[in-house]
Amino acid sequence: MNHTPLGKRRWQLVQVEISIACNLECVMCPWTCERECARHEGLMPESVWRAIALHLDRIASLDFGGGGEPLLHAGLFDRMAEAKAAKCRVGFLTNGTLMDVDAVETILEIGVDWVAVSIDGATAEVYESIRKGAKFETVCGNIERLAARRSEGRPRLMINFLMMPATIHELRRTVRRARRFGEKFGIEVTQPWFQPEEKPVCDQDPRTALFVRYDGKMALHQSRHRRAEFVPW
Ligand SMILES: C[S@@+](CC[C@H](N)C(=O)[O-])C[C@H]1O[C@@H](n2cnc3c(N)ncnc32)[C@H](O)[C@@H]1O
Ligand code: SF4
Repeated sequence: MNHTPLGKRRWQLVQVEISIACNLECVMCPWTCERECARHEGLMPESVWRAIALHLDRIASLDFGGGGEPLLHAGLFDRMAEAKAAKCRVGFLTNGTLMDVDAVETILEIGVDWVAVSIDGATAEVYESIRKGAKFETVCGNIERLAARRSEGRPRLMINFLMMPATIHELRRTVRRARRFGEKFGIEVTQPWFQPEEKPVCDQDPRTALFVRYDGKMALHQSRHRRAEFVPW
């Protein structure tokens, strides 16, 4: 089957909130209340995914993240594999606690393009005071396992560090740790520019990006004609 080249696809990014459920209780998480009254146990039902999957050939990149923990959804990897079969780029942001041996092997098998792990702190003390229910050493071990098994630069590995009054003093140390980690595993380490930058539109351009909530509701840039151009479920 011929697939549309990624650059020509209508939607450059679709964020699929596969789960709003979570296994942690991070102190800063703004999704806690929404999670408590979520339908479908906070997990995206198959019907919502099927409606998205109909359009995979129009999507360049899918980010299986949102306000919960993607690895809690038993269908995460099947859905990613389906998107890969349509030649889309796929990745997800995780708290890393459930990224065990099996998960790492499946990530490699599917050819997931990127994995981002949230680590707010360079020490167990700071990290565990924020990420309630997580163990710093377990998450570091899970990242190491993935780093050791990746090949040909895939998946791209990213660390999300949330800058807060309780964590900012550990930012430099976290960057230093990431650099040492890169040297150990032969991974080139880059970091974002920490100065805010003026841009006419952010990287997630709303004209070509969509967010689909776990229950199928979505945020959509509306054209002048107020016509929904994507999935009318
Ligand atoms: C809601 S989490 C979902 C993915 C996964 N559970 C995780 O923690 O990475 C997505 C990202 O939001 C960040 N986050 C949590 N609370 C936040 C807040 N109050 N403001 C901005 N980002 C926040 C997390 O650090 C994480 O990198
Ligand atoms: S792990 Fe992610 S989704 Fe879960 S409580 Fe923490 S920040 Fe929120």
